[in-house]
Amino acid sequence: MCEPRHFDVAYAINPWMDPTGTVDRSLAQAQWTALVDAYRAHGHTVETIAPVPGLPDMVFAANSALVVAGRMLGARFHAPQRQPESGAYRTWYKDAGYQVHEPTEVCEGEGDLVPVRGLVLAGTGFRTTRAAHEEVRRHFGLPVVTLPLIDPRFYHLDTALFALDDGPEGNIAYYPGAFSAEARATLAELFPDALLATREDALAFGLNSVSDGRHVFVAPQATGLVGRLAERGYVPVPVDLSEIHKAGGGIKCCTQELRP
Ligand code: ARG
Repeated sequence: MCEPRHFDVAYAINPWMDPTGTVDRSLAQAQWTALVDAYRAHGHTVETIAPVPGLPDMVFAANSALVVAGRMLGARFHAPQRQPESGAYRTWYKDAGYQVHEPTEVCEGEGDLVPVRGLVLAGTGFRTTRAAHEEVRRHFGLPVVTLPLIDPRFYHLDTALFALDDGPEGNIAYYPGAFSAEARATLAELFPDALLATREDALAFGLNSVSDGRHVFVAPQATGLVGRLAERGYVPVPVDLSEIHKAGGGIKCCTQELRP
């Protein structure tokens, strides 16, 4: 995770960002710290990367790579404003002992790549390209399911879908309206028991959640989803990142998972 010390909405590269608005950076920092504390309180280890001045979106660590079974594939950012983040993240992964591989096509890490049930669900349409999906398939040797996104509010897959559990029974939650008809049919077939969320909950960043299979770190504004997670036996852990939402990201965007 990357502390939002230099967080700002200085440019607009998605419909959530309004550079003429204001950002309360100390509130963003307090909210981010509460997320770190919530992870640690539930037994998770959090490692951090030093934030770099002039890179206001670096807080969105989930865009830095995909890490599965200790193998990593780094990012190639779509927006020129974010491209310098790659260097900082590359150094972090190298120092942490990873063999760094980088894609040749635009690929925004876990923003568009969600590993679940031995597959990688892969978004495309706004950022990560189909050609990058092919690189992911080759690099990890896992089947990749291409899912076209159609609504600019849900420009990254992780704004519209998250994994509830990993492992052989892995299930997901998602907002169908973010996907092409073809992708909706694919998801319905692969995950007949998925939790389907409303547009309201999706707009509240409810699907930008992190689940450890039991606890779901979720935006409290997604009230419907929070209730439905509890009905299914999950333990919702509400963490409010309202200030960070202004840049178009939430809990999951701030969290890069390092799968051993
Ligand atoms: N402002 C950032 C961008 O548009 C937000 C990234 C959110 N990250 C995510 N994993 N969805 O690139």
